Amino acid sequence: MKNEKNWETWSDEELYSFQEEFIAWYEKEKRNLPWRVNLDPYRIWISEIMLQQTRVDTVIEYYYRFMEWFPTIKDLAEAPDDRLLKAWEGLGYYSRARNLKVAAQQIMTDFDGQMPETIDEIRQLKGIGPYTAGAIGSIAFQIPEPAIDGNVMRVVSRLFEISDDIAKPSSRKVFEAAMYKIIDQHRPGDFNQAMMDLGSSICTPTSPKCEECPIQSYCLSYKNNTMTNYPVKTKKLKPKDIYYIGGIIENKQQEFLLQQRNTKGLLANMWLFPIEEVSKERFEFLKKTGVKEEKQLSLDFEESLLVAEENPEIFDQYTHVVWQKRILGEVTHIFSHLKWHILVFYGRKTGETITDENQAWATKDEFSNYVFPKPQQKMVELYKEEFGNTE
Ligand code: ADE
Repeated sequence: MKNEKNWETWSDEELYSFQEEFIAWYEKEKRNLPWRVNLDPYRIWISEIMLQQTRVDTVIEYYYRFMEWFPTIKDLAEAPDDRLLKAWEGLGYYSRARNLKVAAQQIMTDFDGQMPETIDEIRQLKGIGPYTAGAIGSIAFQIPEPAIDGNVMRVVSRLFEISDDIAKPSSRKVFEAAMYKIIDQHRPGDFNQAMMDLGSSICTPTSPKCEECPIQSYCLSYKNNTMTNYPVKTKKLKPKDIYYIGGIIENKQQEFLLQQRNTKGLLANMWLFPIEEVSKERFEFLKKTGVKEEKQLSLDFEESLLVAEENPEIFDQYTHVVWQKRILGEVTHIFSHLKWHILVFYGRKTGETITDENQAWATKDEFSNYVFPKPQQKMVELYKEEFGNTE
């Protein structure tokens, strides 16, 4: 492979001036972020987990609240599950939150309540892989360990024209070798964070701002004008489409039916309006045949029954619910490898109260007591668009 291991050609002088210029740039430009105010390993750990699949701007608000609710490792180890999930509501990838609690319990029992201080021990904690261990180790304990994520691979692949496929786990060792060579031994935490900041603000995936780059003169792909060839990445598989119909069902007390998900699997324990998986064909059929009329269901359920009987083309009477055939809209949401499509209907409950223990009736004001995943929040938005926000 051409241009392999270009980092091995750097002289010590070149290496030191590169590090000095890069760290000086970071000192000057670094963003003021709440996890950068001190070197508390607990604070750094939480931030790195939150930042794994979520943008900095989104994380900040969650981070402040999380720290307020669970200020110490002990608080996290003892956190009630529903409170923990509430703190994570809307951030996605909820296993991150569950793993955090397990890891906090490991720290309490195996490490005397103190965050472990070596890479090997940090790696033993639930939910911590090489990236997070490198980030915590370098930032909190000044261990010269790289923290390699997608941003860093992009920067390094351009810097040295590395053509290994970043989607392949086996390429990791190439990026690690390059990073071990260039990381600042005295300020590894700052060096890793400089890489992260450069990747997010300058060395961006498309149209990198090379004119503003502090390490432009060291960058092989800048020299050869090959920036857009890097990183090399095979295409991800398209997420699998899954189709649902969703029902927003309201009763006479203006309460809505909610259903709790299983204790295991995707979105475990979270609450949603009832949804039911359907075939793609059924989904398309319902979407096409949705009635367009504007006539609305009465808030009085007996009246809505009457209206349904008189207008069978618009309303459907079905197992104690009168459904408006018109769809409120469609909600889509991607969970890494799955894409949910939910066709949302509105209906009014007419019959007996449902007593299933995984179901509950809640008013809009009570929604904040439940933990809702993103697709549910999008369904609530659809409802508000249709009926107005009466809060
Ligand atoms: N992304 C991941 N970790 C980060 C950090 N410590 N600072 C800024 N962005 C990050």
